[in-house]
Amino acid sequence: MINARVQRFLEENSNRIQTPCVIFDLNVLKEKYADFKKNMPNIEVFYAVKCNPSPKIIETLRDLGSSFDVASIEEVELCLSLKVDPAKLSWGSTIKKPYLVKKAYEWGVRLFATDSIEDLHGIAENAPGSKVYCRILVNNKNALWPLSAKFGCSLSMAEHILVQAKELGLQPFGISFHVGSQQLDLEAWDRAITNAARVFYELKESYNIELEMLNLGGGYPSYGYLTDYQPIEDYYKVIHDSLNENFGDNHPSLFAEPGRFLVADAGTLITEVVLVSKKSHDTDLRWVYLDVGLYGGLAETLGESIKYNIITSKDSDEVDLGEVNIAGPTCDGMDIMYKDYKYNMPIDLQAGDMVYILSTGAYTTSYSSVNFNGFKPLKDYFIE
Ligand SMILES: Cc1ncc(COP(=O)(O)O)c(C=O)c1O
Repeated sequence: MINARVQRFLEENSNRIQTPCVIFDLNVLKEKYADFKKNMPNIEVFYAVKCNPSPKIIETLRDLGSSFDVASIEEVELCLSLKVDPAKLSWGSTIKKPYLVKKAYEWGVRLFATDSIEDLHGIAENAPGSKVYCRILVNNKNALWPLSAKFGCSLSMAEHILVQAKELGLQPFGISFHVGSQQLDLEAWDRAITNAARVFYELKESYNIELEMLNLGGGYPSYGYLTDYQPIEDYYKVIHDSLNENFGDNHPSLFAEPGRFLVADAGTLITEVVLVSKKSHDTDLRWVYLDVGLYGGLAETLGESIKYNIITSKDSDEVDLGEVNIAGPTCDGMDIMYKDYKYNMPIDLQAGDMVYILSTGAYTTSYSSVNFNGFKPLKDYFIE
């Protein structure tokens, strides 16, 4: 079902809306933020800007009191241009050019993630006295979109980095991790918190360095994909129990970097069927080609990782359905969204019909290519 506000917006704006596009309902964003704050108490939210960097989203979250996880100088600049206080920014990427760290520092950013001695030196030289937190490697198993191997370091290296941070005049502030995006295994947080607590303990015992902050990262789910999920309150239960187990009643201050949870369910992608065809006379399997694909914003269908909830303008209780493969419009052979997982679509679906891909507010507009095959970046419209 399309949300009623999106339906009304489509009816009222049918003459100006061009497909493909994402219609983003800012009310849903506000509800999701409230849900997160209510069910994850005492956790400071750093919205992961990369997930959807639209100014409307940043402004809305800014007004709700959110802080922001930024991954590049461009994201720093974007947030500052939207009057976000630099004290509310955390540069969460561990891969950054030293001269851009300097720029961010000059603009007031004082909180940086790291996971290597090399990056730490860049921070120490260009952002003196700043707070640093170290990202540890954690298992991303069971995440629908893993981030594992590339980021984080071992626990002993994290200890070394944070000890060095102090020697280099930085403030060793805490530990972060990311258990993988759309992480459906809640115990992943327990394992990561248990590991993080070891670093807290070792630093205190061996070096008298008292870390203050634990950053629980992202990974909280969209509720709108075809996969099962558990609500955010269940995540908190596991996190809270693990904190009690590992830190007793002396919890560190807690940060989280939700991206997908806040914005995914607020977006509906509107796309038009370009072609419905078959590959031979003796098959019933149809290929449905849409005017959006892997390169137009649906990068997370790579490997069929994220299975969106897809409906068509021909859907009804009476209509006959048949199996389809779903692909994008470009001339690239990789541009196939679903071939192994079989969606069923109306038998009479044809070119010109509309297809609605739900929960597409996360990692779509920001992933869409600029000009591949001449197609324009995925457009978005906002319902205030
Ligand atoms: C450092 C960091 N924090 C937070 C996020 C957001 O994760 P999610 O959208 O799963 O909440 C990401 C996503 O790539 C990330 O790299």
